[in-house]
Amino acid sequence: MAIIQGRDIGTAARWLQAGKLVAFPTETVYGLGANARDEAAIKAVFAAKGRPADHPVIVHLADSEAASAWAAQVDKRARQLMDAFWPGPLTVVLPRHPQVSTLVTGGQDTVAIRCPSHPVARQLLQAFAHLAGPGAGVIAPSANRFGHVSPTQAKHVFQEFVGSDLEMYVLEGAPSEVGIESTIVDVSQAGQPARILRPGHIGADALQAVLREEVMPYAPQKASPDTPRVSGSLKAHYAPRTPLYLFQRAQLSRIIQAHQADRIAVVGCGPLGLLGEAAAQGLHQVRVLPADARSYAAQLYGTLRALDEQGFAALYFEIPPALPVWEAVHDRLSRAAAAF
Ligand code: TXA
Ligand code: MG
Repeated sequence: MAIIQGRDIGTAARWLQAGKLVAFPTETVYGLGANARDEAAIKAVFAAKGRPADHPVIVHLADSEAASAWAAQVDKRARQLMDAFWPGPLTVVLPRHPQVSTLVTGGQDTVAIRCPSHPVARQLLQAFAHLAGPGAGVIAPSANRFGHVSPTQAKHVFQEFVGSDLEMYVLEGAPSEVGIESTIVDVSQAGQPARILRPGHIGADALQAVLREEVMPYAPQKASPDTPRVSGSLKAHYAPRTPLYLFQRAQLSRIIQAHQADRIAVVGCGPLGLLGEAAAQGLHQVRVLPADARSYAAQLYGTLRALDEQGFAALYFEIPPALPVWEAVHDRLSRAAAAF
C-alpha cells in the first residue's frame, strides 16, 4: 500500500477502472476520486476520508451528455445551467436516475453532478469514459479528511494522507485556480425555484441571468440529525487544526494586547497599514490576503494549511467586507472558525 504521485492520465484512468482511488486536480479543489458505479470503491473513499455514510457525493462527468446516465430527468433549467457553466465550478442537483447507487446519493432521491474545467480533470474523465463507456462518472469529494481544509495542490493531498496505509494515485496538476468548492444549485424539483445549497465562485446573480428566474439565495441550514444534505453545511467544517478566530479591524489592537505573550498569526483582508506594523512586533506574524474576493478565495486554503504547520497559538482572520461577492469566503471562514 502506498501513495503514488504522478502525471500519467492513462495510469490514473486504469486505476479508477480497477476500483482504486485516484486523487486529481479540479479548478475548485483536489478531489478524491473513485468509479461512481463501483460500490466497494465508493466505500473506500468514505473510509479514507472518515466521512459519514449518509453524506452524498458529487458525480464528476466528462461532458453534459453523460448527465442523463445519472439524472432521471435533465429538464430545461438543468440544460441551461450546464450549457452556460460547464465545464466549470457548478454542481447541479437533479432527480436521481434509478440506477445510481444509494451510496452516491446518501439515500436521497436526488443526485449531484458536475463537469470540472481543470484540464487534468477533463483529460482524466475523458480517458476514464473511454475505458468505462459513455455515461461514466467519478465520485470525488474533496481530497481531505472529513472536516479538514480542502486541498488545492497535489502536495496538500499527499500531506493529508501520508502515513496512512491507503493505496492511492495522486494525479498531479496545476493548483486549483478557484480555490474553494463548487457552487451547488438544486433544480431537482420542477415548479420550485432553483436554490443554492453551497455558495461558491458562481453567484446567484450569474445563475439568475441564465435561468431568467429567481434563484433562492444560499441560506445556512439549521443542523438537523436527519438531513445532513450538504456536508459542508455542518457548522464546523473546512477547519485547520490551529484555533481560528475572526476579527473586525477595529478589534485588532485589543487582540494584540491580549496576546502579548503568545505567538499568533494575523491575516488581513487587504493591507492592515499601521495596525499591521504594530501587530508584526514581537511574536506575531502578519499576512495579507488580497482585498479582491476571487483572489482571496484562490489563496485561502493554501494559507490556512501553511499557517497550520507553523505551530501558532491561534490564527486571527480579518472578516472580509459584507458584500455578496464575498459570500462563499464568509461561509468557509465562519465554518473554519466554528470548529473552535
Ligand atoms: O468543488 C467541488 O465540488 C469539489 C471538487 C473535488 O469537485 N468536491 C466537493 O465534494 O466539494 P465534497 O464531497 O467535499 O462536497 C460535496 C457536497 C457535499 O456537501 C454534499 O452534501 C453535497 O455536495 N451533495 C452531494 N449530493 C447531493 C445531493 N443529492 N443533494 C444535495 N447536496 C448534495
Ligand atoms: Mg469537502
